[in-house]
Amino acid sequence: MSRLQGKIAVITGGSSGIGLATARRFVEEGAYVYITGRRQSELDKAVKLIGRHVAAVQGDVQSLDDLDRIYAKVAKEKGKIDILVASSGFVEHQKLGEITTSHFDKTFGINARGLLFTVQKALPLIRDGGSIVLISSIAAFKGLPAHSTYSASKAAVRPPLNRIGRPEELAAAVLFLASEDSSYVAGADLVVDGGPERALRRFSPPV
Ligand SMILES: NC(=O)c1ccc[n+]([C@@H]2O[C@H](COP(=O)([O-])OP(=O)(O)OC[C@H]3O[C@@H](n4cnc5c(N)ncnc54)[C@H](OP(=O)(O)O)[C@@H]3O)[C@@H](O)[C@H]2O)c1
Repeated sequence: MSRLQGKIAVITGGSSGIGLATARRFVEEGAYVYITGRRQSELDKAVKLIGRHVAAVQGDVQSLDDLDRIYAKVAKEKGKIDILVASSGFVEHQKLGEITTSHFDKTFGINARGLLFTVQKALPLIRDGGSIVLISSIAAFKGLPAHSTYSASKAAVRPPLNRIGRPEELAAAVLFLASEDSSYVAGADLVVDGGPERALRRFSPPV
């Protein structure tokens, strides 16, 4: 399979977990992948594991200078981004009555502020028709004990597209559900509606 042949991808948090698994899959599908994270040691391990068509750039999504440095390297070497996956994330469990300002600032600093500037600073490099994938969480929709701040930081990153969808875009979602790629998707509603803003407008009375 080579669904991403020749594509350039940037994956923040690409040294571990979902980001690393995504990077491995993207390379299998023909992409060249830049992975980022704070710890160089973990990035080195990930590069070794992925093995080819991968470069690591150390950086913290909370630092605008780091983001500039990451994208400057991609711009110099490849000149564009086809796919941005923002997977860096932080979770720390604190009950509502025990939430501290440092817990709040760190959670929003990485999950919301960090993600916003990760996307904003990539925009000049993202080609027309490119994809931006934000890794949110079920916690954005569902209340979980001691997840108040995390849930809010994930709910903060739901974008709208503000346009009518094309039938082919719905067909692509149907194909995904019909394929092996959705083998771990069960009992879920896949909402394909261009984002929550459009849905809200549709059901809001005129003002
Ligand atoms: N795992 C789950 O069950 C689950 C469920 C729902 C949603 N999610 C979301 O999915 C995403 C990935 O989760 P995961 O479990 O795969 O995470 P993970 O294994 O803990 O990996 C997190 C990655 O993000 C990097 N990272 C963390 N803070 C960063 C920062 N400030 N700047 C740059 N990179 C940073 C880490 O590297 P360094 O530490 O070296 O920086 C690492 O590469 C997160 O956004 C998470 O909230 C996960």
